[in-house]
Amino acid sequence: MASFNTVAGCVLASALFAMVLGHVSNALVHPHKLDKPALAVSDEAPTQTAAAAPAQELPPIGPKLASANIEAGKAIFQKQCFTCHTVDKGGLNKVGPNLWNIVGRKKGSHEGFSYSSALVAKGGDWSYDDIDHLIFKPTSYVRGTKMAFVGLPKEQERADVIAYLRTLSDQPKPLP
Ligand code: HEC
Repeated sequence: MASFNTVAGCVLASALFAMVLGHVSNALVHPHKLDKPALAVSDEAPTQTAAAAPAQELPPIGPKLASANIEAGKAIFQKQCFTCHTVDKGGLNKVGPNLWNIVGRKKGSHEGFSYSSALVAKGGDWSYDDIDHLIFKPTSYVRGTKMAFVGLPKEQERADVIAYLRTLSDQPKPLP
């Protein structure tokens, strides 16, 4: 009995303590919510989460394309991409699909190439920015892609390559 009472007393005491604590912390927190700095912090938090969201860390590539160097892009392509991709009209698929007319082409749509389901699931057409994200880091843009390429970290190189890819078409898409 004695030990039951002790336990019950303890439970009661901690319940009371918790209630008091709740009131005290309410009293402490409440005036804080009215402070400007507290509001500023809670305003900023969602923005930061949005910025950290899926692969949005690259600025738009559009502004870089007009002044990009197509010849340099071709050279980079021949060194980095050509082992896996042909670019001529009606060219063969190699390890990767042929890239003729890739700008504006539906993702994962080249005839006779067996794409990863991850790339097909991406959906939509290849915009300049989508290609930029892909070649920046294929595995982070398309989780589960078959494109085993480490990526081009330098923005200028990506702009040059994309400007070159744009020329591989009967009717190159307008620059953004
Ligand atoms: C090691 C081989 C390899 C290299 C190197 C490589 N790719 Fe790829 N690429 C692939 C494969 C495989 C796919 C298909 C990916 C999938 O299905 O997930 C692909 C897909 C693509 C696509 C999408 C094609 C479509 O029809 O949807 C583009 C664009 C592309 N690559 C551009 C490039 C560029 C530009 C480079 C060089 C900077 C490059 N790739 C380097 C293998 C490679």
